[in-house]
Amino acid sequence: MLRLSLPHVDDDAIAAAVAVLRSGQLVHGAEGNAFEAELAAYLGVREAVVVASGTAALHLALVVLDVGPGDAVLVPDFTFPATGNVVRLVGARPVLVDVDPATYCITPEGIEAAISAFHGPERLRAVMPVHEFGQPAAIDAIVALSARHGLAVVEDAACAIGATLQGRKLGTFGEIGCFSLHPRKTLTTGEGGVLTTDDAALARRLRRLRSHGIERDASGMHFVEAGYNLRLTDIQSALGRAQLPKLDGWIASRRALAEAYREALAPLVGAGRLTLPARAEGHSWQTFMTVLADGIDRAAVIRALAAQGIEANLGAQCLSVLPPFEGCGGGPVAARLFRQGLALPFCEQYGPGEVSRVAQALAAALG
Ligand SMILES: Cc1ncc(COP(=O)(O)O)c(C=O)c1O
Repeated sequence: MLRLSLPHVDDDAIAAAVAVLRSGQLVHGAEGNAFEAELAAYLGVREAVVVASGTAALHLALVVLDVGPGDAVLVPDFTFPATGNVVRLVGARPVLVDVDPATYCITPEGIEAAISAFHGPERLRAVMPVHEFGQPAAIDAIVALSARHGLAVVEDAACAIGATLQGRKLGTFGEIGCFSLHPRKTLTTGEGGVLTTDDAALARRLRRLRSHGIERDASGMHFVEAGYNLRLTDIQSALGRAQLPKLDGWIASRRALAEAYREALAPLVGAGRLTLPARAEGHSWQTFMTVLADGIDRAAVIRALAAQGIEANLGAQCLSVLPPFEGCGGGPVAARLFRQGLALPFCEQYGPGEVSRVAQALAAALG
Protein backbone atom coordinates (compact mmCIF):
# COMPACT_ATOMS: atom_id res chain seq x y z
CA MET A 1 0.00 0.00 0.00
CA LEU A 2 1.28 3.47 -0.85
CA ARG A 3 0.56 5.15 2.48
CA LEU A 4 -0.89 8.63 2.82
CA SER A 5 2.29 9.63 4.62
CA LEU A 6 5.19 8.03 6.45
CA PRO A 7 6.86 9.22 9.65
CA HIS A 8 10.51 10.07 8.96
CA VAL A 9 12.56 8.56 11.77
CA ASP A 10 16.13 7.98 10.60
CA ASP A 11 18.76 5.81 12.31
CA ASP A 12 20.31 8.83 14.03
CA ALA A 13 16.95 9.72 15.62
CA ILE A 14 16.53 6.12 16.77
CA ALA A 15 20.07 6.12 18.20
CA ALA A 16 19.36 9.38 20.06
CA ALA A 17 16.19 7.92 21.59
CA VAL A 18 18.04 4.73 22.58
CA ALA A 19 20.77 6.80 24.24
CA VAL A 20 18.13 8.47 26.41
CA LEU A 21 16.62 5.08 27.27
CA ARG A 22 20.07 3.87 28.39
CA SER A 23 20.80 7.08 30.34
CA GLY A 24 18.31 6.50 33.14
CA GLN A 25 16.91 10.05 32.72
CA LEU A 26 13.63 9.64 30.82
CA VAL A 27 11.89 12.88 31.83
CA HIS A 28 12.94 16.29 33.25
CA GLY A 29 16.36 15.87 31.61
CA ALA A 30 18.70 17.86 29.41
CA GLU A 31 17.08 16.69 26.13
CA GLY A 32 13.83 18.54 26.79
CA ASN A 33 15.61 21.79 27.68
CA ALA A 34 17.88 21.52 24.64
CA PHE A 35 14.94 20.76 22.33
CA GLU A 36 13.12 23.85 23.61
CA ALA A 37 16.17 26.06 23.05
CA GLU A 38 16.72 24.68 19.54
CA LEU A 39 13.05 25.06 18.61
CA ALA A 40 13.03 28.67 19.86
CA ALA A 41 16.13 29.45 17.79
CA TYR A 42 14.74 27.72 14.67
CA LEU A 43 11.36 29.46 14.93
CA GLY A 44 12.84 32.84 15.86
CA VAL A 45 10.91 33.24 19.08
CA ARG A 46 11.93 33.85 22.69
CA GLU A 47 10.31 30.80 24.28
CA ALA A 48 9.31 27.32 23.09
CA VAL A 49 7.56 25.04 25.58
CA VAL A 50 7.22 21.35 24.69
CA VAL A 51 4.12 19.41 25.76
CA ALA A 52 2.45 16.05 25.22
CA SER A 53 0.48 16.90 22.03
CA GLY A 54 -0.75 19.66 19.76
CA THR A 55 -4.10 19.47 21.54
CA ALA A 56 -2.37 19.93 24.90
CA ALA A 57 -0.64 23.01 23.46
CA LEU A 58 -3.94 24.54 22.28
CA HIS A 59 -5.64 23.69 25.58
CA LEU A 60 -2.88 25.23 27.72
CA ALA A 61 -2.84 28.32 25.48
CA LEU A 62 -6.48 29.02 26.35
CA VAL A 63 -5.94 28.21 30.04
CA VAL A 64 -2.95 30.55 30.32
CA LEU A 65 -4.89 33.35 28.59
CA ASP A 66 -7.70 32.79 31.13
CA VAL A 67 -10.29 32.01 28.45
CA GLY A 68 -13.21 30.22 30.11
CA PRO A 69 -16.93 30.29 30.90
CA GLY A 70 -18.60 33.46 29.61
CA ASP A 71 -16.10 33.79 26.76
CA ALA A 72 -16.36 33.06 23.03
CA VAL A 73 -13.54 32.22 20.61
CA LEU A 74 -13.48 32.45 16.79
CA VAL A 75 -12.44 29.12 15.24
CA PRO A 76 -12.33 27.99 11.59
CA ASP A 77 -15.17 25.70 10.55
CA PHE A 78 -12.71 23.58 8.52
CA THR A 79 -9.98 22.09 10.72
CA PHE A 80 -9.15 19.11 12.91
CA PRO A 81 -11.74 19.08 15.75
CA ALA A 82 -9.09 19.65 18.45
CA THR A 83 -9.09 23.38 17.57
CA GLY A 84 -12.74 23.65 18.61
CA ASN A 85 -12.71 20.95 21.29
CA VAL A 86 -10.28 22.87 23.49
CA VAL A 87 -12.59 25.90 23.45
CA ARG A 88 -15.39 23.67 24.73
CA LEU A 89 -13.06 22.04 27.28
CA VAL A 90 -12.26 25.39 28.95
CA GLY A 91 -16.00 26.15 29.10
CA ALA A 92 -16.05 28.81 26.39
CA ARG A 93 -18.19 28.88 23.20
CA PRO A 94 -16.62 28.34 19.77
CA VAL A 95 -17.92 30.66 17.03
CA LEU A 96 -17.25 28.98 13.70
CA VAL A 97 -15.95 31.03 10.77
CA ASP A 98 -16.09 29.74 7.19
CA VAL A 99 -12.85 29.38 5.22
CA ASP A 100 -11.46 30.33 1.81
CA PRO A 101 -12.11 27.65 -0.87
CA ALA A 102 -8.54 27.70 -2.24
CA THR A 103 -6.36 28.23 0.87
CA TYR A 104 -8.74 26.34 3.26
CA CYS A 105 -7.90 29.00 5.90
CA ILE A 106 -9.99 31.71 7.57
CA THR A 107 -9.52 35.20 6.14
CA PRO A 108 -9.40 38.69 7.72
CA GLU A 109 -12.68 39.49 5.90
CA GLY A 110 -14.38 36.39 7.32
CA ILE A 111 -13.18 37.25 10.83
CA GLU A 112 -14.37 40.88 10.52
CA ALA A 113 -17.79 39.66 9.36
CA ALA A 114 -18.00 37.20 12.27
CA ILE A 115 -17.07 39.95 14.76
CA SER A 116 -19.75 42.26 13.30
CA ALA A 117 -22.36 39.49 13.45
CA PHE A 118 -21.47 38.49 17.02
CA HIS A 119 -23.97 39.70 19.63
CA GLY A 120 -23.01 37.70 22.72
CA PRO A 121 -24.14 36.96 25.31
CA GLU A 122 -20.52 35.87 25.84
CA ARG A 123 -17.50 38.12 25.59
CA LEU A 124 -15.46 37.59 22.42
CA ARG A 125 -11.93 36.95 23.70
CA ALA A 126 -9.74 35.29 21.09
CA VAL A 127 -9.31 34.01 17.56
CA MET A 128 -7.60 30.73 16.65
CA PRO A 129 -6.51 30.89 12.99
CA VAL A 130 -5.38 27.54 11.59
CA HIS A 131 -2.60 27.42 8.99
CA GLU A 132 -4.36 24.53 7.33
CA PHE A 133 -2.02 21.83 6.03
CA GLY A 134 0.91 24.31 6.30
CA GLN A 135 -0.72 26.99 4.13
CA PRO A 136 -0.06 30.44 5.64
CA ALA A 137 -3.28 32.21 6.67
CA ALA A 138 -3.07 36.02 6.35
CA ILE A 139 -1.79 36.07 9.90
CA ASP A 140 -0.24 39.55 9.78
CA ALA A 141 -3.60 41.11 8.87
CA ILE A 142 -5.41 38.83 11.34
CA VAL A 143 -3.11 39.92 14.19
CA ALA A 144 -3.66 43.61 13.28
CA LEU A 145 -7.44 43.34 13.17
CA SER A 146 -7.51 41.27 16.37
CA ALA A 147 -5.54 43.99 18.16
CA ARG A 148 -8.12 46.57 17.01
CA HIS A 149 -10.90 44.43 18.49
CA GLY A 150 -9.03 43.48 21.69
CA LEU A 151 -8.83 39.77 20.79
CA ALA A 152 -5.91 37.49 21.62
CA VAL A 153 -4.52 35.40 18.73
CA VAL A 154 -3.67 31.74 19.33
CA GLU A 155 -2.19 30.42 16.10
CA ASP A 156 -2.99 26.79 15.42
CA ALA A 157 0.15 25.96 13.47
CA ALA A 158 -0.28 22.23 14.23
CA CYS A 159 0.47 21.35 10.59
CA ALA A 160 2.77 24.26 9.86
CA ILE A 161 6.15 23.81 11.52
CA GLY A 162 8.75 25.43 9.25
CA ALA A 163 6.17 27.29 7.12
CA THR A 164 6.63 31.04 6.73
CA LEU A 165 4.85 34.26 5.78
CA GLN A 166 7.18 36.88 4.30
CA GLY A 167 10.14 34.99 5.72
CA ARG A 168 8.82 34.86 9.29
CA LYS A 169 7.94 31.46 10.74
CA LEU A 170 4.26 30.74 11.27
CA GLY A 171 3.30 30.22 14.90
CA THR A 172 5.26 33.33 15.96
CA PHE A 173 2.78 36.09 15.01
CA GLY A 174 0.08 35.74 17.67
CA GLU A 175 0.28 35.88 21.47
CA ILE A 176 0.83 32.12 21.42
CA GLY A 177 1.61 29.64 18.63
CA CYS A 178 0.82 25.92 18.85
CA PHE A 179 2.39 23.04 16.92
CA SER A 180 1.74 19.30 16.76
CA LEU A 181 4.47 16.66 16.54
CA HIS A 182 2.05 13.81 15.72
CA PRO A 183 3.29 11.19 13.16
CA ARG A 184 1.22 12.82 10.39
CA LYS A 185 3.30 15.99 10.85
CA THR A 186 6.60 16.68 9.10
CA LEU A 187 8.58 16.57 12.35
CA THR A 188 7.33 13.91 14.74
CA THR A 189 8.10 12.70 18.24
CA GLY A 190 5.35 10.04 18.13
CA GLU A 191 3.03 12.35 20.02
CA GLY A 192 4.02 15.84 21.04
CA GLY A 193 3.33 19.53 20.85
CA VAL A 194 5.01 22.92 21.21
CA LEU A 195 3.85 26.33 22.39
CA THR A 196 5.71 29.48 21.39
CA THR A 197 5.61 32.93 22.92
CA ASP A 198 7.79 36.02 23.33
CA ASP A 199 6.35 36.57 26.80
CA ALA A 200 8.67 35.04 29.42
CA ALA A 201 6.01 35.24 32.15
CA LEU A 202 3.51 33.33 29.99
CA ALA A 203 6.15 30.69 29.22
CA ARG A 204 6.93 30.28 32.90
CA ARG A 205 3.26 29.70 33.71
CA LEU A 206 2.93 27.28 30.76
CA ARG A 207 5.87 25.23 32.12
CA ARG A 208 4.22 25.24 35.52
CA LEU A 209 0.81 24.21 34.18
CA ARG A 210 2.24 21.34 32.13
CA SER A 211 3.79 19.81 35.26
CA HIS A 212 1.39 19.79 38.24
CA GLY A 213 1.68 23.53 38.91
CA ILE A 214 5.23 23.10 40.23
CA GLU A 215 7.78 25.92 40.61
CA ARG A 216 11.32 24.94 41.60
CA ASP A 217 13.95 26.97 43.42
CA ALA A 218 17.00 26.31 45.58
CA SER A 219 14.79 25.20 48.45
CA GLY A 220 13.01 22.56 46.37
CA MET A 221 9.71 22.27 44.56
CA HIS A 222 6.53 24.12 45.35
CA PHE A 223 3.03 23.28 44.15
CA VAL A 224 1.81 26.82 43.54
CA GLU A 225 -1.36 26.17 41.49
CA ALA A 226 -3.44 23.32 40.13
CA GLY A 227 -1.67 21.91 37.07
CA TYR A 228 -1.77 19.06 34.58
CA ASN A 229 0.75 16.44 33.59
CA LEU A 230 1.23 17.26 29.90
CA ARG A 231 5.00 16.77 29.71
CA LEU A 232 6.96 15.50 26.74
CA THR A 233 9.47 12.77 27.63
CA ASP A 234 13.21 13.14 26.99
CA ILE A 235 12.97 10.13 24.66
CA GLN A 236 10.60 12.15 22.48
CA SER A 237 12.70 15.31 22.72
CA ALA A 238 15.73 13.35 21.51
CA LEU A 239 13.76 12.18 18.45
CA GLY A 240 12.73 15.77 17.72
CA ARG A 241 16.24 17.17 18.15
CA ALA A 242 17.62 14.68 15.62
CA GLN A 243 14.99 15.69 13.05
CA LEU A 244 15.04 19.47 13.47
CA PRO A 245 18.26 20.13 11.46
CA LYS A 246 16.72 18.18 8.53
CA LEU A 247 13.33 19.88 8.58
CA ASP A 248 13.99 22.63 6.04
CA GLY A 249 15.41 20.11 3.55
CA TRP A 250 12.31 17.92 3.97
CA ILE A 251 10.04 20.94 3.40
CA ALA A 252 11.98 21.78 0.22
CA SER A 253 11.34 18.22 -1.03
CA ARG A 254 7.64 18.60 -0.18
CA ARG A 255 7.48 21.84 -2.20
CA ALA A 256 8.96 20.02 -5.20
CA LEU A 257 6.46 17.18 -4.71
CA ALA A 258 3.55 19.66 -4.65
CA GLU A 259 4.76 21.09 -7.96
CA ALA A 260 5.03 17.59 -9.43
CA TYR A 261 1.44 16.84 -8.37
CA ARG A 262 0.27 20.16 -9.83
CA GLU A 263 1.73 19.22 -13.21
CA ALA A 264 0.55 15.59 -13.14
CA LEU A 265 -3.01 16.56 -12.13
CA ALA A 266 -3.32 19.45 -14.63
CA PRO A 267 -5.37 17.37 -17.12
CA LEU A 268 -7.92 16.51 -14.41
CA VAL A 269 -8.11 20.18 -13.42
CA GLY A 270 -8.60 21.11 -17.09
CA ALA A 271 -11.39 18.55 -17.37
CA GLY A 272 -13.16 20.10 -14.37
CA ARG A 273 -12.81 16.94 -12.25
CA LEU A 274 -10.96 18.52 -9.34
CA THR A 275 -9.31 21.68 -8.05
CA LEU A 276 -5.89 22.07 -6.45
CA PRO A 277 -4.86 23.84 -3.24
CA ALA A 278 -3.63 27.43 -3.57
CA ARG A 279 0.10 27.72 -4.00
CA ALA A 280 1.81 30.07 -1.57
CA GLU A 281 5.37 31.00 -0.90
CA GLY A 282 6.20 29.65 2.54
CA HIS A 283 3.68 26.76 2.38
CA SER A 284 5.15 23.74 4.16
CA TRP A 285 2.79 21.17 2.54
CA GLN A 286 2.00 18.93 5.48
CA THR A 287 -0.90 17.54 3.41
CA PHE A 288 -1.80 17.82 -0.29
CA MET A 289 -5.60 18.02 -0.46
CA THR A 290 -7.42 18.31 -3.79
CA VAL A 291 -11.15 19.02 -3.99
CA LEU A 292 -13.28 16.77 -6.20
CA ALA A 293 -15.98 18.36 -8.37
CA ASP A 294 -19.51 18.27 -6.94
CA GLY A 295 -21.32 15.09 -7.86
CA ILE A 296 -18.22 12.89 -7.72
CA ASP A 297 -18.59 10.23 -5.03
CA ARG A 298 -15.45 10.61 -2.90
CA ALA A 299 -15.93 7.31 -1.08
CA ALA A 300 -15.99 5.51 -4.44
CA VAL A 301 -12.78 7.31 -5.50
CA ILE A 302 -11.06 6.31 -2.24
CA ARG A 303 -12.15 2.70 -2.81
CA ALA A 304 -10.89 2.72 -6.40
CA LEU A 305 -7.51 4.09 -5.30
CA ALA A 306 -7.31 1.50 -2.49
CA ALA A 307 -7.91 -1.23 -5.08
CA GLN A 308 -4.75 0.05 -6.82
CA GLY A 309 -2.81 -0.06 -3.53
CA ILE A 310 -3.04 3.69 -2.91
CA GLU A 311 -4.24 5.19 0.37
CA ALA A 312 -6.26 8.41 0.15
CA ASN A 313 -8.54 10.11 2.65
CA LEU A 314 -10.59 13.17 3.47
CA GLY A 315 -8.56 16.23 4.45
CA ALA A 316 -10.10 17.75 7.58
CA GLN A 317 -13.48 18.00 9.30
CA CYS A 318 -16.33 20.49 9.10
CA LEU A 319 -16.87 21.32 12.77
CA SER A 320 -20.40 22.72 12.35
CA VAL A 321 -21.79 19.23 11.54
CA LEU A 322 -20.22 17.63 14.64
CA PRO A 323 -22.21 17.26 17.91
CA PRO A 324 -19.95 19.43 20.15
CA PHE A 325 -20.41 22.39 17.79
CA GLU A 326 -24.15 22.39 17.21
CA GLY A 327 -25.48 25.95 17.05
CA CYS A 328 -21.98 27.47 16.73
CA GLY A 329 -22.40 28.78 13.16
CA GLY A 330 -20.30 27.61 10.23
CA GLY A 331 -20.41 27.90 6.47
CA PRO A 332 -20.89 26.25 3.10
CA VAL A 333 -17.24 26.27 2.00
CA ALA A 334 -16.12 24.21 5.01
CA ALA A 335 -19.01 21.80 4.43
CA ARG A 336 -17.97 21.33 0.79
CA LEU A 337 -14.24 20.90 1.59
CA PHE A 338 -15.21 18.28 4.17
CA ARG A 339 -17.45 16.45 1.65
CA GLN A 340 -15.26 16.66 -1.48
CA GLY A 341 -11.70 17.08 -0.13
CA LEU A 342 -9.31 14.30 -1.12
CA ALA A 343 -5.86 14.07 0.49
CA LEU A 344 -3.31 12.20 -1.63
CA PRO A 345 -0.15 10.31 -0.57
CA PHE A 346 2.34 12.96 0.37
CA CYS A 347 5.66 13.11 2.26
CA GLU A 348 9.28 13.92 1.51
CA GLN A 349 10.14 10.24 1.05
CA TYR A 350 7.99 10.20 -2.11
CA GLY A 351 9.05 11.42 -5.56
CA PRO A 352 7.95 11.61 -9.20
CA GLY A 353 7.32 7.84 -9.38
CA GLU A 354 4.69 7.94 -6.64
CA VAL A 355 3.13 11.09 -8.11
CA SER A 356 2.65 9.60 -11.57
CA ARG A 357 1.29 6.36 -10.10
CA VAL A 358 -1.29 8.32 -8.04
CA ALA A 359 -2.18 10.63 -10.94
CA GLN A 360 -2.78 7.68 -13.28
CA ALA A 361 -4.91 5.82 -10.74
CA LEU A 362 -6.88 8.98 -9.98
CA ALA A 363 -7.49 9.65 -13.69
CA ALA A 364 -8.81 6.09 -14.06
CA ALA A 365 -11.00 6.46 -10.95
CA LEU A 366 -12.46 9.71 -12.23
CA GLY A 367 -13.19 8.29 -15.66
C1 LIG B 1 -5.13 21.87 12.80
C2 LIG B 1 -4.85 20.91 13.91
N1 LIG B 1 -4.97 21.33 15.18
C3 LIG B 1 -4.70 20.50 16.20
C4 LIG B 1 -4.30 19.19 16.01
C5 LIG B 1 -4.07 18.30 17.19
O1 LIG B 1 -2.74 17.90 17.32
P1 LIG B 1 -2.38 16.54 18.11
O2 LIG B 1 -2.87 15.40 17.30
O3 LIG B 1 -0.89 16.57 18.23
O4 LIG B 1 -3.04 16.61 19.43
C6 LIG B 1 -4.16 18.72 14.71
C7 LIG B 1 -3.73 17.34 14.48
O5 LIG B 1 -4.03 16.71 13.52
C8 LIG B 1 -4.44 19.60 13.63
O6 LIG B 1 -4.33 19.19 12.36
